[in-house]
Amino acid sequence: MDARFASLLLLNLVHLFLRISAREFLLPGSSLSIEDSSHMLHSPDGTFTCGFKNISRNASVFSIWFSNTVDKTAVWSANHLHPVYSWGSRVMLYADGGMVLEDYNGQSVWENNVNSSSKAVKAQLLDTGNLIVKGQGDIILWQSFHSPTDTLLPYQNITSATKLVSTSRLLVPGRFSFHFDDQHLLTLFDDEKDISFIYWPNPNSDIWTKQRNSFNTTTIGVLDSWGYFLASDNLNFKASDWGIRIMRRLTLDYDGNLRLYSLNKTDGTWSVTWMALPQTCSIRSLCGMNGICVYTPRPSCACAPGYEIIDPNDRSQGCRPKFNPSCDGQEMFVKLPNTDFRGNDQSKNTSVSFHTCKKICLNDCNCKGFLYWQASGGCYPKSSLLGGEMRPGLGRSIYIKLPKTLQVSKSSIPQSQPFDPRYAPNCSAKTKYFIPDFLDQPKDSHSGLNSQYLYLLYGFLLAIFLVEVIFVALGCWFVFRMEGKQLPGVWPAEIGYEMITNHFRGYTYKELQKATQNFKDQIGCGASGHVYKGVLKDKRVVAVKRLADINQGGEEFQHELSVIGKIYHMNLVRVWGFCSDGPHRILVLEYVENGSLDKTLFSSTRLLEWKERFNIAIGVAKGLAYLHHECLEWVIHCDLKPENILLDDNLNPKISDFGLAKLVSRGGSNKNVSRIHGTRGYIAPEWVSSQPITAKVDVYSFGVVVLELLKGARVSDWASNADEEVETVFAWVIRMLAENLMLEGGQQLWISDFIDSRLNGQFNELQARTMVKLAISCVEEDTRKRPTMENVVHMFLSVVDA
Ligand SMILES: *[C@@H]1O[C@H](CO)[C@@H](O)[C@H](O)[C@H]1NC(C)=O
Ligand SMILES: *[C@@H]1O[C@H](CO)[C@@H](O)[C@H](O)[C@H]1NC(C)=O
Ligand SMILES: *[C@@H]1O[C@H](CO)[C@@H](O)[C@H](O)[C@H]1NC(C)=O
Ligand SMILES: *[C@@H]1O[C@H](CO)[C@@H](O)[C@H](O)[C@H]1NC(C)=O
Ligand SMILES: *[C@@H]1O[C@H](CO)[C@@H](O)[C@H](O)[C@H]1NC(C)=O
Ligand SMILES: *[C@@H]1O[C@H](CO)[C@@H](O)[C@H](O)[C@H]1NC(C)=O
Ligand SMILES: *[C@@H]1O[C@H](CO)[C@@H](O)[C@H](O)[C@H]1NC(C)=O
Ligand SMILES: *[C@@H]1O[C@H](CO)[C@@H](O)[C@H](O)[C@H]1NC(C)=O
Repeated sequence: MDARFASLLLLNLVHLFLRISAREFLLPGSSLSIEDSSHMLHSPDGTFTCGFKNISRNASVFSIWFSNTVDKTAVWSANHLHPVYSWGSRVMLYADGGMVLEDYNGQSVWENNVNSSSKAVKAQLLDTGNLIVKGQGDIILWQSFHSPTDTLLPYQNITSATKLVSTSRLLVPGRFSFHFDDQHLLTLFDDEKDISFIYWPNPNSDIWTKQRNSFNTTTIGVLDSWGYFLASDNLNFKASDWGIRIMRRLTLDYDGNLRLYSLNKTDGTWSVTWMALPQTCSIRSLCGMNGICVYTPRPSCACAPGYEIIDPNDRSQGCRPKFNPSCDGQEMFVKLPNTDFRGNDQSKNTSVSFHTCKKICLNDCNCKGFLYWQASGGCYPKSSLLGGEMRPGLGRSIYIKLPKTLQVSKSSIPQSQPFDPRYAPNCSAKTKYFIPDFLDQPKDSHSGLNSQYLYLLYGFLLAIFLVEVIFVALGCWFVFRMEGKQLPGVWPAEIGYEMITNHFRGYTYKELQKATQNFKDQIGCGASGHVYKGVLKDKRVVAVKRLADINQGGEEFQHELSVIGKIYHMNLVRVWGFCSDGPHRILVLEYVENGSLDKTLFSSTRLLEWKERFNIAIGVAKGLAYLHHECLEWVIHCDLKPENILLDDNLNPKISDFGLAKLVSRGGSNKNVSRIHGTRGYIAPEWVSSQPITAKVDVYSFGVVVLELLKGARVSDWASNADEEVETVFAWVIRMLAENLMLEGGQQLWISDFIDSRLNGQFNELQARTMVKLAISCVEEDTRKRPTMENVVHMFLSVVDA
């Protein structure tokens, strides 16, 4: 009796021992079954649990999770792509250390692939969250730390042999991964169907900007117990609540952002204490094809106008067109302000007009739209609309190509708006696919939903503000560097900085008020406005021109100026910037020492020598030729006259006021050229007779200016009595000159009669003759008979050394 009782007791004890031991470790030959809730492994301090975790009523995944968190946050799982049935599934440990997960039907779903001759002693979950299979002599046969899923725990090394892969909401492999690349840098990859690309660190920045080190072949990175991550490539970051005794995890979330979380032990919730991409919307494939990421303030996906969502429950699938794509050159463009689709540029053209850019896209059936950068005239036609992001203050706009017949309502243009119900997370979808809520701001408290949202809202506004501050700061820094080192204007193709690196920029009215001491020192006054001298903050002396009668809207004005700002030639006055503040339309121009040509040429203060006059004529010709033929936009000056030709300290001419008449496209349409420009005496006949206006109007004006240079008198002063019309006198002089030119050889006295008597005959006769000949052909009534400015320059050059 006693013996039987004793053996029963022993059996019970063994049983009890086994049950207890099952919680601490798993012995070879035994298994954890899914039905028995006691069949779980706990870490000695109870932080982690390993077992079957149900993801729905009848599906489970063998996982390791934080025991004391609200949602039992998993840190590791065995083949989460193949959940097992919630009845009859089990995990077995074999004597050789092999661990196998079997579905209810005996199908092996996962194995740990141990490769050892040593015998296993036990499997056990450590306090670090590492599940290990121990062999004899305490050697580790296998550990979960060496095959992470989407999370790294403190002390868990990431090496070249391991990687994190995001967990997809739809039980399909995640597309984002975090691992060492072939340059030994820890990198975030986006694996699309046929390509894989890096999205963090920014692939466009160089290694110095990345602040990484690609020479260390010992690839390792680890998060320490204080919340500090350090890797061999010098990637390092710190949790915002840096300190000991806080539970943390580094997770590559399903949206592709890598976030460091800290646990609040009181209520078992997580808060973000660091993240790789401060703006989740900058992850290119987040919203899929034709989708646009907006901030509500939480990142959400919207569709581009004309497109509809493919799967409301998985917005990363993107959007499909609601129209039949066609290509008849009859499409319209819809502007999406402050929106960009990153990448997929078919080409890059800078300094093209908006219309040219539109044409490039319209003529290309593969073009789905284009990005136009107002400030620099940058044109980026897109072959696909991927990586869309709408962010207030982004400063660039996308124009998407849609059939003309499509109705596009204003409300279909995506906006970043807090609490916009259109992009609110779908609550039914949420329960279906357990979308975690990401708080994209490190937070330290949340009491109730309202304050949480308020916090997010303020955080969002703050983030935008910070981005602006950083942008402005960077801009200043760039300008500063440019000033200090006089770097050539070549910079990495980072749009947005182009504007700054070119020195061309917008100024506020206040800045210019300050620079000119409230428009005190007036140095000029013309039909287009008053000019004041000013000194910018960076000590540059500038001429500030307040434009009168510009009735263009700010954006149109900026666009035209962005083209003008790109024009750079030694015989053209440089445009440094502009101001379009409220009603003010102001140009910031290069300051030219010696004022305008009329002041010197027609006054007695200083006599212009022959050489100087010839030099001025050739310079003006070169400047005009550049405007007409060489610069990217075809610019017609339309108001060339001595008042608009400035002389620098070496008496080199610089043409000013170009581009103020509306820019004309090379195609030849000229309806937009304003006819209010032009000054009597210099305007070509076709100007008045409303014939087409071409660059030949400038050739005409140039001819008049050359004659003035020769004669040293204003064309309007040529008449000997006040009753005579300027045009009549001018026509008579031209006829006379033309007839004299016909006279072969013989006495050329008429030339010295015509040329400024103040020169006392000190002029080069061949040059003078050539100039007269040229001037006469320039003022031909028939525009086709006038030479081009290029011809003019060539003729001048042929007599330079005479
Ligand atoms: C997991 O199972 C528990 C108990 O059976 C149940 O209350 C819970 O809703 C299940 N979880 C999911 C995600 O289905
Ligand atoms: C899941 O469980 C429910 C309730 O037990 C059952 O009605 C349903 O058929 C199960 N689904 C599958 C796919 O087995
Ligand atoms: C596994 O073991 C076999 C035989 O011992 C050996 O040939 C093979 O290289 C090992 N594989 C790994 C990955 O260690
Ligand atoms: C992590 O790497 C360090 C240095 O190589 C090593 O000492 C440590 O054992 C590794 N930790 C784990 C869990 O493998
Ligand atoms: C490479 O990285 C390891 C680990 O961070 C570090 O100990 C070592 O000094 C680094 N070597 C070089 C050459 O930077
Ligand atoms: C735009 O750039 C492409 C190449 O990048 C070039 O072939 C094309 O001629 C350019 N178009 C204009 C209008 O400058
Ligand atoms: C939310 O998801 C459910 C289930 O997938 C779907 O029926 C519903 O139309 C969705 N609601 C919205 C507003 O997209
Ligand atoms: C943790 O949560 C509790 C309850 O919500 C809150 O009172 C406390 O401030 C939180 N602690 C931290 C460090 O966020």
